[in-house]
Amino acid sequence: MKCSSLVLGVLATLAAAQTPSPYTDAKSGITFNTLQHSSGMFFGLALPANATGNTDFIATIGGKGTGWSGVSLGGGMLNKLLIVAWPNAQAVVGSFRKTGRYASPAVVTGSFTQTAIANGTYVNSTHWTYTFLCSKCIQTDGTTLKPTDTAPSLGFALNPTAPAQKANPASSVSKHTAQGQAAFDLSKAKSENLEVWKGYAVPEVATGFAG
Ligand code: HEM
Repeated sequence: MKCSSLVLGVLATLAAAQTPSPYTDAKSGITFNTLQHSSGMFFGLALPANATGNTDFIATIGGKGTGWSGVSLGGGMLNKLLIVAWPNAQAVVGSFRKTGRYASPAVVTGSFTQTAIANGTYVNSTHWTYTFLCSKCIQTDGTTLKPTDTAPSLGFALNPTAPAQKANPASSVSKHTAQGQAAFDLSKAKSENLEVWKGYAVPEVATGFAG
């Protein structure tokens, strides 16, 4: 009995957060190395083939239903650069967050920016997704993955309940119902097409995006 519940527990853990693997978004055509959580939450990264001097990536974050999805670019929750996103009707809301304690993280500003990629940002009958250029999101201050990393551990978190103020990118969120970390093999995130895909990020067409 004990043994079988241990086996079931291990299986459940494996099913909950699998190893990131390549996934191509059907609408944008962008390929990401993507973590797929059993809840429907996902997070993927696309990086340039040549990492020298690069501080940017394209990210996709999404889920099913109306809850929030979050990632930690530094792995853990505290004092790391976090990204939180959720759907608001047909739009998607995204923001950078940071906190020094285990509570709803406040919005943070810095040199980093997120610029929506319109053809990869949508809400449909199966899921929602927010695709964006994350500029200056690779730093050396310990809050994010570093330029020298080859397989950084990134954090993820989600709650299937919508935030209190869905239209407000600074809305507080409820504590995640699932969270964890996964190692992202960056070699599987690299693409020669990154410059083309970066060109899709145009702030002016990001109507409905807030954050
Ligand atoms: C009211 C809001 C929140 C509360 C109270 C909260 C609380 C906590 C606590 C207590 C832990 C330690 C593990 C545990 O005991 O569950 C944790 C871990 C974590 N949280 Fe939060 N959290 C909140 C929101 C967020 C958000 C918005 C994110 C978005 C990225 C996030 C990302 C993480 C990550 C990545 C971990 C670490 C997972 C790991 O190392 O395995 N949290 N959080």
